[in-house]
Amino acid sequence: MDAVILAGGLGTRLRPFTYKTPKPLMPLLNVPIVVRQAEFLRSLGATRLVVLVNASGRRIVSVLESSCVFPKVHVRYESRPLGTGGAVRSALDIIQGEWFFVMNGDVCFFGDLPKMGLCDESVIVVHEVTDATGFGLVRCENEMIEGFTEKPGEATSGFINAGLYRLWKQDVMLLAGGESASLERDLFPVLSSRGRLRAHVFRGFWSDLGTHERYLNAHYELMQKMAVFQGTPPSCNFQVIPPCCISPEARISSSASIGPYTTVGAGAVVGEGASIIRSVILPGAHVRAYAQIEGSIVGDLT
Ligand code: GDD
Ligand code: MG
Repeated sequence: MDAVILAGGLGTRLRPFTYKTPKPLMPLLNVPIVVRQAEFLRSLGATRLVVLVNASGRRIVSVLESSCVFPKVHVRYESRPLGTGGAVRSALDIIQGEWFFVMNGDVCFFGDLPKMGLCDESVIVVHEVTDATGFGLVRCENEMIEGFTEKPGEATSGFINAGLYRLWKQDVMLLAGGESASLERDLFPVLSSRGRLRAHVFRGFWSDLGTHERYLNAHYELMQKMAVFQGTPPSCNFQVIPPCCISPEARISSSASIGPYTTVGAGAVVGEGASIIRSVILPGAHVRAYAQIEGSIVGDLT
């Protein structure tokens, strides 16, 4: 089955980092988000990858190609933002098969997603949260979705749209071709009112990575779950307080202290006596000598 990644958004809530690096290429524990997503989609049985990007999406495509998770990457470049619905609708001609996965390019799943059974309706993967503000709220009864409200005004707990779908082409055809549209605002409410939308619950760790706070929190949670020490040189001569994820291509002074809950990317430089706690040091960033960093994302913005 084909899998489509929506990777054409502007990543405004992750600025200033996304001025230089498109959101799907922001690293999650030192691996680009979009590569982790491709791996997850493969684990669900996807056999062909389609990525929908804006005009500056070439880097996303080349990172996906060199990851070799899928043998070939099929791309649709959008000259103007079409929204989530318009983008998928306009790519139907390059998507093979009647059913296909769609994934938002900024969500992370960790854990097993139970196999989606065969059914005649399009499916939304949902996840239970205590505050649905900022997400798509899904009201379901016995797996059938009875209501879909994108970005509910009031804080409420319940199931939210986790940004992963198995859609039927004929359902997406309800959107007009060539126009900007939103899956969440223009399609899902219509499908749910027609009894054509099913929920599939994911109970593992899930996060949207699109804000500074969520991006950092996902790092903390995943480090705990994965028990990472990934890439840390076994004979490193600086102090490491686990869990940490340190690229072997980072240059860290011997008197620096890293961790806990800290990621250091490739090409990052950490000066002598610096201390970094609960932070993400992005690839190529420089941390000055004796800097004290806590709960921060540090990037090279030049
Ligand atoms: N190709 C393309 N074209 N992709 C787009 C476009 C577009 O015009 N607009 C947005 N996207 C991509 C973004 O890059 C992102 O990967 C995905 O669509 C979702 O956009 P976000 O801007 O991150 O949406 P959100 O986080 O506010 O809400 C969405 O995700 C939540 C889960 O994280 C909705 O789907 C919510 O219902 C959902 O709960
Ligand atoms: Mg998002």
